[in-house]
Amino acid sequence: MRLLQLGFFLALASGLSALLIYISGVSDLHTTTKLSDQDLEALQSLQSGFKKCVSKNGLGLQAVTKGSDYCQVTLNFPTDTVPKWKDPKTGQLEGLSFEFNLCEAVATWEQVRNSTTILTREFIDALPNGWEDYAWRRINKGVLLNRCENNTLCLEKLSLVLPKTPPYVPKQFDRCAVIGNSGDLLQTKFGKEIDDYDVVIRENGAPIENYTEFVGKKSSFRLLNRGSAKALDKVIELDETRKEVLIIKTTIHDIMNKMIQEVPINNPVYLMLGASFGSAAKGTGLKALEFALSICESVDMYGFTVDPGYKEWTRYFSESRQGHTPLHGRAYYQMMECLGDKIFL
Ligand SMILES: *[C@@H]1O[C@H](CO)[C@@H](O)[C@H](O)[C@H]1NC(C)=O
Ligand SMILES: *[C@@H]1O[C@H](CO)[C@@H](O)[C@H](O)[C@H]1NC(C)=O
Ligand SMILES: *[C@@H]1O[C@H](CO)[C@@H](O)[C@H](O)[C@H]1NC(C)=O
Repeated sequence: MRLLQLGFFLALASGLSALLIYISGVSDLHTTTKLSDQDLEALQSLQSGFKKCVSKNGLGLQAVTKGSDYCQVTLNFPTDTVPKWKDPKTGQLEGLSFEFNLCEAVATWEQVRNSTTILTREFIDALPNGWEDYAWRRINKGVLLNRCENNTLCLEKLSLVLPKTPPYVPKQFDRCAVIGNSGDLLQTKFGKEIDDYDVVIRENGAPIENYTEFVGKKSSFRLLNRGSAKALDKVIELDETRKEVLIIKTTIHDIMNKMIQEVPINNPVYLMLGASFGSAAKGTGLKALEFALSICESVDMYGFTVDPGYKEWTRYFSESRQGHTPLHGRAYYQMMECLGDKIFL
């Protein structure tokens, strides 16, 4: 069983223009009339295909739509789901119901498909005030650098992770697998299947040794949050080939530069450039997907599921811990699967 599959937008091409027209129609009511019968049909079919997919693959999730709006959808968890995660700001327990806009999601991800996702010197140089306005944001405590007033210093801090031109181009690779860290991976032995992909993308401290029958052995890329990136010396030990490309989604830190030079770390290390998605699932998992959808023709997801009974959220390599917004994230990934999977417009 392959849990979540994203053959993103392959079947969607013909419907994309309808979606784009629809989205601009929502922001400007006068243009809604531009939708042809054919476009409306495409949207209806997107919506009904989506509902069927969620009902079939969603482990109890259901998609509810309002007849009149083809883009808006609410994903509901079963009513006996017990939310455990509390918003630290409001103290509120996470809800069981989440709204998404399918059309916006498709349009946003379609842009990602065509983008380059590694920060380059070329990119900073091409921004209007790239060094003054942007570069310092990618350096830990960059705010102390006075907008890279000393350009040499900024360049020095970034140099180990800043290639001149993009090291990868959109859709350079064919079949890719993104491996989340969910405990559900231990329920099926996906190892061999995962090793069959052209590219395998992992996240943070996910171990390989001792888990290969479940998560495979191959590892091409690893997306890192700041915490993991600060332990770069430990992270490189996770892949015994030492060829994994490490991609940091936050900032470069003096500690990391020091390790790269002194350990030394010979794996390529880069900073992620990329869209930021407003609401759900902002973690490393989403960044890994974003990276994959940009460099790969097709993307399959493994290990992005909260356990089907929704009793707890675990990682395959540690005791149960609280993730952030696990239900919201789970719902978001379900939307992704069902947008990518079997949409025929
Ligand atoms: C993708 O990028 C190519 C080359 O930059 C461009 O010609 C094409 O229009 C883009 N497609 C989309 C959907 O943005
Ligand atoms: C700018 O940074 C470089 C590299 O750290 C340093 O050698 C130089 O003295 C700095 N220049 C000024 C004007 O502070
Ligand atoms: C794998 O198992 C061995 C023996 O229990 C242990 O020493 C080692 O640390 C484990 N490796 C990982 C990455 O968990």
